[in-house]
Amino acid sequence: MSRLVTQVASLTLKNPVICGAGEQTMTMAAIRSALASGAAAVVAKSTNESAAAKEQLDKTDYVLLDAQWNRLPWNFAPPPDAMLFGRSGLVQRDFDEWLDDLQQLDREARKQDAYVIPSLILSDLERCAAFARKIEDAGMRVLELNIGAPHGEEAAKGAIVLERGAERIEAIVRHIRQATRLPLWIKLTGQSEDVVGLAQAARRGGADSVVMMGRFMGFLPDLESERPLLGTSAAIGGGWALPLTARWLMLTRKAIGADYPLIATNGARSGLDVARFLLAGACATELTSAVFTGGYRVLSEAIEELDRYLCSRGRNVSELLGMAADHVETYQQQPDRPGYWQGFAPRTE
Ligand SMILES: Cc1cc2nc3c(=O)[nH]c(=O)nc-3n(C[C@H](O)[C@H](O)[C@H](O)COP(=O)(O)O)c2cc1C
Repeated sequence: MSRLVTQVASLTLKNPVICGAGEQTMTMAAIRSALASGAAAVVAKSTNESAAAKEQLDKTDYVLLDAQWNRLPWNFAPPPDAMLFGRSGLVQRDFDEWLDDLQQLDREARKQDAYVIPSLILSDLERCAAFARKIEDAGMRVLELNIGAPHGEEAAKGAIVLERGAERIEAIVRHIRQATRLPLWIKLTGQSEDVVGLAQAARRGGADSVVMMGRFMGFLPDLESERPLLGTSAAIGGGWALPLTARWLMLTRKAIGADYPLIATNGARSGLDVARFLLAGACATELTSAVFTGGYRVLSEAIEELDRYLCSRGRNVSELLGMAADHVETYQQQPDRPGYWQGFAPRTE
């Protein structure tokens, strides 16, 4: 299936479908299931050195919502427009044991022409750099570092750092870059007015790719209890996020250039969504909520659906990359259609 092959800087992936970090990549069995689905890479549930971040896992809660904000059943067959609202914590493992497991899993992944990718979430920069070195020494082949997790401002102080400042991002990435030669993917927040600026900063710091962009924080009053749903603010995601992520991808591609690899996260639910992100400029796409709430078959179905789409158009992945982004026009370039708007207006008395 060579039409699916994609390139993330020096890394060749057998397809652009990545299982993103989340509860569905928490255990060895979970990562094996994700690999078995045919995903080109599986990003392990993140860790760091913070005890508070680990403890937070015991305070997780999740709810699936329909378009009217009603709860949907958690039955692993959500409608495509289901939204996931929730809070999460980090993996509750000793770092060295966690790394041993990932080493073993990545050996298994090699046989499937795939990757298992350790993920760190920033807490203390020096400890993060030390972990990055250990990850390289263990023979892992890629490192993802999330410096934009949405829970950063709600979690206990220091547990999870949500970084929005371009200068600090450049300095953080440079520090980790000096600690490891591994391909370094930096996952950025979407809660910024200038995601392009954050991507540029990460690139200056030495990131091989940026993963954009983290989910948004939301607050949802519950009509029945008259209290916050789940008791707190929480991260919110859904298919609606795809155009928001796609726009930042398009703008980043324009600002940085087509040669710099961008990875999409936030909003993809299917193979056709992976195609949409390809057209917006992402050489690969991470799917998380869709797999968490729909099971690992979501990954195999996404690969099959993308393949069917490419086949029907006689295209391969590299031909699709950035095609829509490279043809975006300004409002001023649009044709004049006097009075056209009236066809859209509601009837008046
Ligand atoms: C339950 C849950 C747990 C998550 N845990 C992590 C994590 O440990 N590390 C991380 O970098 N991102 C984590 N994420 C973020 C996802 O990897 C992903 O970037 C985000 O959910 C947006 O993509 P999606 O629309 O495919 O879900 C988590 C998301 C969810 C829903």
